[in-house]
Amino acid sequence: MLANPKQILNDFKAKNQATFAFNTTDIVTTQAIIEAAVETKTDFILQITKKTLEYKGDVEIVNLALNMIEQRTPKNLKVGLHLDHGNDFQTCKHAIELGFNSIMIDGSQLSYEENKNLTKRVVDYAHKKNIPVQGELGTVPYIGKHVFEEDDDSVWDEYMTDPDQAQEFVEFTKIDTLAIAIGNAHGFQKERSSPDWERLEKITQKINLPLIMHGASDWTENKIKQAVKRGVSCFNIDTDIRVAYISKLCDLFENECRMDDPRKVMQLVKRKIKEKVIQRIKTIKKNEA
Ligand code: G3H
Ligand code: 13P
Ligand code: ZN
Repeated sequence: MLANPKQILNDFKAKNQATFAFNTTDIVTTQAIIEAAVETKTDFILQITKKTLEYKGDVEIVNLALNMIEQRTPKNLKVGLHLDHGNDFQTCKHAIELGFNSIMIDGSQLSYEENKNLTKRVVDYAHKKNIPVQGELGTVPYIGKHVFEEDDDSVWDEYMTDPDQAQEFVEFTKIDTLAIAIGNAHGFQKERSSPDWERLEKITQKINLPLIMHGASDWTENKIKQAVKRGVSCFNIDTDIRVAYISKLCDLFENECRMDDPRKVMQLVKRKIKEKVIQRIKTIKKNEA
């Protein structure tokens, strides 16, 4: 059932546990993620980026997600529908109109002052409509935009979340969840030699909100466990799903599967994504036990 993502994440936080936010780009991925969550009985966040709204048709993909949540999940399974990486006021406003019940305003490419002011403006608007907002402080780098070849961890310093600044950011903006940067990066690209655990502990001491770890696709089970122990409530997974999708397609193509029936092909792709999502969820469940 569609549920408030703030409530979902606060519930995990209260139990010192975490869940995932999985990105979808189309019907096959949405089905695979939802089936995996139903099978493992896992409350989670389904999320869609601005780029996907532009690519797929915003009304189409949001209605698809909402319908599937309503039709394919039981009442006791909580699923949030979240706008991932909205980066301007208009996109966030439009996302609320489309039916997202949670949004992210990512001002991480702006100066601190600009990020703070834009985030507050979005929060003021969204909260009037009872929609929770995720902000980002520090920058979670992107493949293509930021490349780190060096082994020297100091190249990461400028991207990291400052714990004191984070406290001020949260108090000023009144966000509901915070995306943090402690050496994590989007895509399968070189990350910091190890996440800055000390920094995460300081952030957790100063901020009593669910913390979101973007760029978790290549995070090992142990790293995830360490992060949960230090207060992270949600891990974002996109690249892992996309790579499973495309590599299965390539595999079918190379192995001369008869590529004359998209229904058969996409059924196999869906199964592959579902396996991947279940595998991810199980690592967290195992650590809960
Ligand atoms: O964190 C977000 C994504 O992995 C990048 O997604 O290519 O849909 O903007 P996008
Ligand atoms: P990955 O690229 O590691 O999957 O990160 C996804 C993400 O942060 C979505 O917001
Ligand atoms: Zn992200």
